[in-house]
Amino acid sequence: MNQFPQGFLWGGALAANQVEGAYNKGGKGLSVADVLPNGIWGPIVYPPQGEYLKHQAIDFYHRYKEDLALFAEMGFKCLRVSIAWTRIFPNGNEESPNEEGLAFYDALFDEMAEHGIEPLVTLSHYEMPMFLVEEYGGWTNREVIGLFERFAETVFTRFKNKVSYWLTFNEINLALHAPFISIGIRHDKGEILQQVRYQAIHHQFVASASAVKMCHEINPDAKIGCMVAGVPMYPLTPDPSDVLEAQKQERETLFFADVHARGHYPAYIKRFFKENNITIDMEERDEEILKHTVDFISFSYYMSGCATANEELNVQSNANILNIVKNPYLPSSEWGWQIDPKGLRYTLNMYYDRYEKPLFIVENGLGANDVINENGEIEDDYRIDYLNAHLCQVREAIEDGVEVMGYTSWGPIDLVSQSTGEMKKRYGFIYVDRHDDLSGTFKRIKKKSFHWYKQVIQSNGSTLKCEE
Ligand code: BG6
Repeated sequence: MNQFPQGFLWGGALAANQVEGAYNKGGKGLSVADVLPNGIWGPIVYPPQGEYLKHQAIDFYHRYKEDLALFAEMGFKCLRVSIAWTRIFPNGNEESPNEEGLAFYDALFDEMAEHGIEPLVTLSHYEMPMFLVEEYGGWTNREVIGLFERFAETVFTRFKNKVSYWLTFNEINLALHAPFISIGIRHDKGEILQQVRYQAIHHQFVASASAVKMCHEINPDAKIGCMVAGVPMYPLTPDPSDVLEAQKQERETLFFADVHARGHYPAYIKRFFKENNITIDMEERDEEILKHTVDFISFSYYMSGCATANEELNVQSNANILNIVKNPYLPSSEWGWQIDPKGLRYTLNMYYDRYEKPLFIVENGLGANDVINENGEIEDDYRIDYLNAHLCQVREAIEDGVEVMGYTSWGPIDLVSQSTGEMKKRYGFIYVDRHDDLSGTFKRIKKKSFHWYKQVIQSNGSTLKCEE
């Protein structure tokens, strides 16, 4: 049976705004995550009125020791977390950082080190300071590059001896679909022009490349990657028009990885810019900065999608943050996300063929409405089946020759969902007694999948049940 490589980084992935809570403690400022009572498509309520789920989330801020001990019990080699920008620079434009915020992450990384868990840290996971949205216009404003650079330099320097793996912007390609949380442009203030959106994206590209450069200068041993939402697009039919449409939609993701991995804008985007009257305002240094390419490509993977040139069939499929056409061959999760383990092998091969850089799967998992049975247990066999099937495909890709650094499943402990802002959409190996109506004791309970994942890690994948 094929094996996962020695040193494979098994673990889980979290984001500060979905677990920490303590949204106004320790000197923290408000971020875009704190003003969305009903998830990313709901109203933006700024300043917040009353309490929202994310304000306390699962109280990881106070309970991280207990949670890390549970991750260590599963044998985690790696934990992906993010640093909330607003804990370090509450408004985003201060001259000096908030020491209390830095101290929190110091303690978190120290505790991880105690357990031998390697941190993989996202600089920006939908956590932009609200002040920068309101006063600067988010990433549309070039000045935000410098403010982000200050934040990045601060944390690279402070955690130089504690963090060896970094990611710049979470799912950076979702700037095309979720502008408020990604690039800090309010969707409730009228139409967002393509010109404005792509200019903001350009600023993020420069900030990301600049972070890569700084990271390498500050700690030459550290590795830094980009992060995209990987949703492979299949043509709905073999009609060449559908094939071209699928290629076009795939490029909406590849564009972002291309700039990060190749260090310049790809040829195909120029026609798109021309036809849509988009002119990117670039400064002289930008092209030079962009040449600082990432060490690896990371991505989230939950689903694939279909594309068609037939406008009538182009109906929405309620799939993640993207509007994609349903694949008739695939089942869906309770939230309508289409489950496609083979698509993960396909994606790994596609990216590796294109970039020949190491890949890291930094999110994958099943959101489900878990229930506690009469014995107080959570029998989440559906989650075990989902993860098992995906990991079998990762192993196939490794056998295909793809260099895969690791796998961090999304939400190893239940957390607040991003798209819908719910608690009942649970991903964890660990259940958290916390509910949509803000009730709950925050008690942690191991699910059946906890024991399963522990065995998978312990055996370096050999207990997976894969079709031979
Ligand atoms: C990714 C995000 O889009 O998907 C995470 O990086 C998010 O923040 C995850 O939680 C799952 O999405 P959701 O909406 O089910 O929480």
